[in-house]
Amino acid sequence: MEKKYKSSYFAHVLKLAVILVVAGGLGIFARGIFLPETMGQYGHYRGSDIQDQRDVAIRNQTNDACFECHRPIRLIHKAGVHKTVSCEVCHGPYADHVKDGKVIGKLPVKRGMEIKELCLRCHNKVIKARPETVIKVVAMPQHLEEKKVQITHNCNQCHMVHDPLLWVRAAYEMAGVPMKEEKK
Ligand code: HEC
Ligand code: HEC
Ligand code: HEC
Ligand code: HEC
Repeated sequence: MEKKYKSSYFAHVLKLAVILVVAGGLGIFARGIFLPETMGQYGHYRGSDIQDQRDVAIRNQTNDACFECHRPIRLIHKAGVHKTVSCEVCHGPYADHVKDGKVIGKLPVKRGMEIKELCLRCHNKVIKARPETVIKVVAMPQHLEEKKVQITHNCNQCHMVHDPLLWVRAAYEMAGVPMKEEKK
């Protein structure tokens, strides 16, 4: 006949159970201490975060905010092909420059070859993800070779940064050559 082994010794199981219960209890206790008060108020996040986000100071503005003081640039920029481009993309946030209607600091202005880098951030042909129908792109240095200039030429020698086709259009007019269809 098979022998049945039945132990009445549970101490090892008990130890484990006690550890689990204590650990669980500590967990619940810690959660009570560390969980933010408004956790779960609206959903699985801290409810007071909504107010925190509301209180974050606004750092950016529309171009209209810049036009108030920069009137000459307004005339050029608003009439040109860059009218949809934000001043802040190229110059940084309003909050670093103006507070309560007063100038509090200077915004950076790109100079020299930094300008080329800035332009190519949006107009470089190597950016494959963007359809050419959205933003016209050029390949370097072919763009300059086509124009028969040295490849060290900078974009702002031919393109006015605040209305890139202003001088180009004028040059075509002077030469009496019709320009390629411009994007409206
Ligand atoms: C309250 C008027 C005011 C507003 C609004 C304003 N500016 Fe200016 N900005 C000035 C003045 C004044 C200067 C010249 C300050 C100087 O040269 O010290 C200036 C200078 C600049 C310069 C040149 C800095 C340099 O180093 O040459 C840039 C770029 C500029 N502003 C961009 C902007 C942009 C972009 C905005 C909107 C986000 C803007 N400004 C809004 C008054 C203003
Ligand atoms: C595509 C990028 C770009 C945009 C958009 C742009 N700027 Fe500029 N801005 C430049 C660059 C580059 C220069 C320096 C030009 C140079 O040195 O030939 C400049 C120069 C300036 C200057 C200083 C002029 C000087 O030479 O000291 C002011 C002021 C200015 N921009 C204001 C504005 C305002 C206001 C807007 C929005 C209406 C704006 N910019 C939009 C790129 C831009
Ligand atoms: C933030 C992105 C951005 C930056 C930076 C930028 N551009 Fe533009 N550019 C645009 C958009 C958007 C248009 C309007 C759509 C178009 O025509 O391609 C445009 C239009 C143009 C056009 C007219 C294209 C055409 O024939 O319709 C030229 C030229 C141009 N930009 C040159 C420049 C130069 C030069 C610089 C550097 C000073 C520059 N861009 C910086 C976004 C940008
Ligand atoms: C020697 C003058 C010259 C220089 C320098 C120059 N361009 Fe141009 N670019 C032109 C002319 C002119 C056009 C007008 C279209 C044409 O006639 O081919 C043009 C057109 C463009 C266009 C529109 C292309 C299209 O498909 O219609 C973009 C974008 C452009 N340039 C960006 C740049 C950028 C970015 C730089 C600097 C890296 C630059 N250009 C430097 C002369 C120049």
